[in-house]
Amino acid sequence: MNQATKASARDAGPASSYVDTENGLVDRTIFSDEAIYHRELERIFARAWNFMCHESQVKEAGDFFLTRIGEDQVIVTRDKKGAVNVLLNSCRHRGNTLCRAEQGKARSFMCPYHGWNYGLDGKLVGVPGYEEFYRGGLDRDEWGLGHAAQVDSYKGFIFATMDPDAPGLLEYLGETGRVGLDIAAKDENIEVLPGIQKNRIGCNWKLAVDNLFDWYHPTISHASSDRSDFFPLQDTLYQMNQMVMLGDYGHAIAGPFVKPEGEDAASDVENTYGTQPIMPHPNIFPNLWIALNGTQLSLRLPRGPFETEIWWFTLVQKDLPAEERRKTQLFATHFFGPGGLLEQDDGENWAHSTRATKGIANRRYPLHYAMGKGKDKVVDSPLGHKRVETVVNEHGQLWTYKAWAEWMDADSWDELKQNHTPAPTGRI
Ligand code: FES
Ligand SMILES: [Fe+2]
Repeated sequence: MNQATKASARDAGPASSYVDTENGLVDRTIFSDEAIYHRELERIFARAWNFMCHESQVKEAGDFFLTRIGEDQVIVTRDKKGAVNVLLNSCRHRGNTLCRAEQGKARSFMCPYHGWNYGLDGKLVGVPGYEEFYRGGLDRDEWGLGHAAQVDSYKGFIFATMDPDAPGLLEYLGETGRVGLDIAAKDENIEVLPGIQKNRIGCNWKLAVDNLFDWYHPTISHASSDRSDFFPLQDTLYQMNQMVMLGDYGHAIAGPFVKPEGEDAASDVENTYGTQPIMPHPNIFPNLWIALNGTQLSLRLPRGPFETEIWWFTLVQKDLPAEERRKTQLFATHFFGPGGLLEQDDGENWAHSTRATKGIANRRYPLHYAMGKGKDKVVDSPLGHKRVETVVNEHGQLWTYKAWAEWMDADSWDELKQNHTPAPTGRI
C-alpha cells in the first residue's frame, strides 16, 4: 500500500485493507468516507462500552445527564430505586426529542409534542387520551423508551453498551483500561466540576483520538505555550523517556515516564505513576481520553466524518478548598477546551489533516504511523504489567488503528472476542 495505492479505485472492502500493520501505514480514506463512518457507528459505537458520566453527576434520584452513544443521544438518569439508566432520548410515538436540557433534575420526561410521559427508568407512565382516543389499543408496557443493553460503572465512572453480547465492563477494560481509569479515580473521593466544556472541531474523530498518544508534536505544535511560559513543555515531555501499554480491544496508554525511585517497592498504580510531572495518556477505546494526570477527561464524539464534538470533564477531590477549586477551573479552561491554548493548536492540525483526506489524489498516499515500529520490546513492570519503555513512538496510534480494523471487520462480539489481537508480548 505504499505510494500510489489501490484506494482510488476501491469503493469498499475489509477495514483491514486500509490499515497496513506490517508497514505502519493507514489509508486516508478511513477519515472521510461516509460508508466507513456509518459502519463505525454500527460496529464500534453501538457495540463498545461508551463512557457516559461520573457518578457524582447523577448522585440523587431525578438527576440526569445528556450524552451520546455514536449519533444516538441518551439520557443518563438516577431513578427512584437508585439505579442508573441509560435511555434513548427519543419519544416512541413520533421520535421527538424528549429532554432538551444538557443536565438537571427531573421527576419524569414529558414529550413536548403530544405529551407522552416517561419515568426516570424509561417506562411509559402517561399518555394523553389513553382511554378516550386509544380505547384499549395501546399497551403502555410495550412502549417504554429504548435503552442501553448493559450499564455498569468502574470506580465511579459510568459506562453503557447497546450490545447485549458485549463482555462485562471489567473484562472489556482489561488491565490497560483499568490502569487508565485508576489514574483518574485516585482514591475515589472525586467529583466532576459543574459545567462540561463542549465545542466542535471540523475533524474526523479518529485523528483527535490518535493525537492523545502523540508526544512528537508538542514541541512544534505547542511552541507558543512553551515560549510564552504558559506551559513549560521542556520540563514535562520526557521525549526520550516514554512508556506504552497496549491492551485488548484497542485500549492503550502512552507518554512520559520516568521510573520513580524505589519503584520496586511500589504497591499500586498510583505509587508507580503518581510522582510524574505528567503521566502517560490512556485512551479507553474508542473515544475516552484520560488527560492531565487524570484531572480531566475528554470525549471525542463523532458528528459525521468531518466533525467531532470535544467534551471536557474536570475532576477534583471532593474536599478541595474553594481557592484550589477555582485554580483548577481556570487551568481547565485555559489549557484545553474551546478557550484552551493547546486545543487551538491541535484542532487546527486535525481539521487540516481531515480536509486533505477527501481528495482523490491525496488518498493515493497513505499516512505514516511507523515511528518505532519493530524497535521496542514489551517487558514486565514490577507490578506485573506488560509495558514498553522507550522514546517517543507511534505504537499507541498504530495499535488503535489495528483494533479499529478488527472491530470494523467483526460481524459480532463473539467474532471480535475470537479474532482480536491480544495485548502483545515480545518485540513490537
Ligand atoms: S412525539 Fe412524543 S408524544 Fe408524540
Ligand atoms: Fe497537542
